[in-house]
Amino acid sequence: MLKIGVFGLNRGLDYAKDFMHLDCEIVAVCENRENVVNAALKVLPTDVKVYNNFDEFIEHDMDAVVLANFFHEHTPYAIRCFEKGLHVFSECMAASTMAECVELLRGFEKYKDRGSIYMLAENYPKMKFNREMKRVVEGGTLGKILYAEGEYNHPGRPNYAEGLQEYTYFDKHWRSYLPRTYYLTHSLGPIMWLTGATPKRVSAFATFNPPSDDVAAPSHNADKVASMLMQNDDGSVFRIVGCSAFGARHDSYRVCGTKGQIENLRGMGEQVMLRYSPWYVPEGMKENNLYTPYFEDSENDFVRKSGHGGGDYFTAKCFLDAIKENRQPEFPFDVYSGVTMAVISILAHRSVLENGAPYDIPDLKNEDERKKWENDNLSPFHYSDGRTPTIPCCSHPDYKPSEKNMELYHKLLLEELEIATDKSHLR
Ligand SMILES: NC(=O)c1ccc[n+]([C@@H]2O[C@H](COP(=O)([O-])OP(=O)(O)OC[C@H]3O[C@@H](n4cnc5c(N)ncnc54)[C@H](O)[C@@H]3O)[C@@H](O)[C@H]2O)c1
Repeated sequence: MLKIGVFGLNRGLDYAKDFMHLDCEIVAVCENRENVVNAALKVLPTDVKVYNNFDEFIEHDMDAVVLANFFHEHTPYAIRCFEKGLHVFSECMAASTMAECVELLRGFEKYKDRGSIYMLAENYPKMKFNREMKRVVEGGTLGKILYAEGEYNHPGRPNYAEGLQEYTYFDKHWRSYLPRTYYLTHSLGPIMWLTGATPKRVSAFATFNPPSDDVAAPSHNADKVASMLMQNDDGSVFRIVGCSAFGARHDSYRVCGTKGQIENLRGMGEQVMLRYSPWYVPEGMKENNLYTPYFEDSENDFVRKSGHGGGDYFTAKCFLDAIKENRQPEFPFDVYSGVTMAVISILAHRSVLENGAPYDIPDLKNEDERKKWENDNLSPFHYSDGRTPTIPCCSHPDYKPSEKNMELYHKLLLEELEIATDKSHLR
């Protein structure tokens, strides 16, 4: 039985449940917030060892670590795991600076002989409609893929105390300093997986829309969406929005080829629309095909309830399959693709700050490229070790929340609430 440790028990608990269902043992957890530990202990095995310090946690006898700590602090911990030969399942940004992108790859290669499998825990590709799009793309009826789109749109309810307490629970939390391009794996990951293409150049623009004073808004970023355009290694083009916040929640994807195109329909559950040019309709199909995909393995009760339409379960399974078969995970969940996505997030934001100036995406497999970026530590975030932002997180660099925005935020943080254990409605 594979022994797993979980670092960070907010999101980490979701994956702990998936791994337990997949016959793994959760042997240790590391979390320094007592209320979060107590809630998790209701679900975790009674003999799980609880640590509040990573240095002690990593000494525990285990095979793999789920990195579900702060979004921008995964790299140093991943490298500590490589050093000990532990497998790493990293939620979701692989590295938060260009220098960290280089460090992660160098660390991975330095300890390669110790056998760590690294997986970027990007879960949206394995949502049911995306699995169907993959099946259709691989079937070849769309022809050569020319263009794809991905949108992760997640507006938040204003003045929602429960959401603020769950996700933005202190002033310098990463969510309050997150540029719109950084959380892009949920939009880019699926289309890289669907098409096999890797972006080589990016340009981006953001929409700035500051909140009014009657909203609890601790974020130092008032951009609501950043749209990114990419030219890929196979000549195709991607258009994505990172983590955006405009009216009506959706995760939507579209892949277009020379003969046809497929997309999931916004606001229509798991339905997909598969369309062909009239002269390319394959035998047995219609020109326009609207349907809900069916996969037998998605119908299992646990899988249906697992987060993100079963995406979490299949992502966890993908990691375990790679470990069982002693290989790195499939594209684009391997460490090199994970770093490529991080590089795009970082350079797309620089493009936003420079009025859409295009940036080439360096191939950090190449040591000469690594040398160019190894000392680039620019970051929009506050770090646990006291480092402070060195680049603005917003397209309007001087933006900061008003005193009233912050006053209301602090008031709602202190509001007494019964925090729901089922958090799925918040994501
Ligand atoms: N794939 C998805 O659908 C999805 C959904 C939610 C979150 N996430 C990812 O999960 C990660 C965590 O996000 P979150 O929503 O849980 O919020 P979060 O970042 O606020 O939670 C991180 C948790 O780690 C703990 N932690 C951080 N550093 C620690 C340390 N040194 N010692 C002990 N405990 C420490 C914190 O106390 C906190 O409970 C992020 O990378 C986020 O992007 C992914």
